[in-house]
Amino acid sequence: MSYVAITGVGSCLPKRQVTNDDLVARGVDTSDDWIRDRSGIGARHIVSEGESTLTLAVGAGRMALANAGVAPEDIGVVIVATSTQEYAGFPSTACLVQHELGIGSVPAFDMAAACTGFNYALTTAHHFITGGPAKHALVIAADALSSIINWADRGTCVLFGDGAGAVVLSASDSPGILSEQLYSDGSLGDILKVDQGEPRETFEGTHDALAPYVFMEGRKVFKVAVESIVKSVTHCLLDAGITADDLTHVVFHQANQRIMSVVGDKLNIAPEKLAMTIEKYGNTSAASIPITLDDLNKQGALKAGDLVLMVGFGGGFTWATTLVKWTKS
Ligand code: ACO
Repeated sequence: MSYVAITGVGSCLPKRQVTNDDLVARGVDTSDDWIRDRSGIGARHIVSEGESTLTLAVGAGRMALANAGVAPEDIGVVIVATSTQEYAGFPSTACLVQHELGIGSVPAFDMAAACTGFNYALTTAHHFITGGPAKHALVIAADALSSIINWADRGTCVLFGDGAGAVVLSASDSPGILSEQLYSDGSLGDILKVDQGEPRETFEGTHDALAPYVFMEGRKVFKVAVESIVKSVTHCLLDAGITADDLTHVVFHQANQRIMSVVGDKLNIAPEKLAMTIEKYGNTSAASIPITLDDLNKQGALKAGDLVLMVGFGGGFTWATTLVKWTKS
């Protein structure tokens, strides 16, 4: 068995939904029209008491295991892609997930590649299965970016939401993952980063002195994202020997509806193939791709044989494409 396929998918969102109008009511100097027009976002979910990156990761991981019909003791590696680890430093969120889900004493570690983290984690897990003893891997992407947003910065606070998505990857007799490309360019690290040094307003309205917060040069990120995605998707399609017409679904990182539409047009991807959850969940960072994949799965839109392209981009700057054949029926 030299192939690896996605055999389960799941997601978990915080119970608190915050609409654009809720943000306006909270005092953010913005409007529902502005946010929808510039980003496509209508609402997002934000963690509240008892919820965190860990609880979201565990919820999504548990659902993916159930969806795959794989027992926790059969998981050979746990990877959690996140920029908001449960603890700054250690233990890793993945170790906490391993314990919470009753997974054996297998490798468990976090992956830092911002919003591209899910693609990076998929490729890493893929190699754990093809190159080692693992038959199944649990790959989770979980972020609670609301905890590192400066809620006084209307340029960023309206864009992000919290959530987690997960897949089980398994050794397979037939091809699942068909092509994968990971990229980085650290010279662009400054356009999107978790900075420190300014007092930050929390969602609850208190002030943290010198806490980490997300800094973004929105226009530059927009431009770099479009250029890098177009190049990497073109490369991926060539590598797989297919065209955009052969794709069944395209799951972009849900950063901005306009980025997805512009890139879709440049690559001649039919608009109905673009999976979108940004309107209801906002930008959930690394989690947005598996959350959207789970959304497609719940709608019954994923059929065996479908070609699904997943495209991540974000801080680093990092970007990546993963092409999979859906093998679940
Ligand atoms: N509400 C109302 N007005 C606002 C808001 C807001 N929330 N935010 C900014 N504005 C104002 C600005 O102050 C500015 O006003 P001015 O003209 O008087 O100076 C005006 O709107 C235009 O601001 P821009 O920043 O130029 O607006 P733009 O059209 O570029 O849209 C946006 C901003 C949505 C952030 C856009 O640049 C974007 O989507 N960039 C990509 C962001 C992205 O993809 N980030 C995530 C990628 S990686 C990751 O997920 C971590």
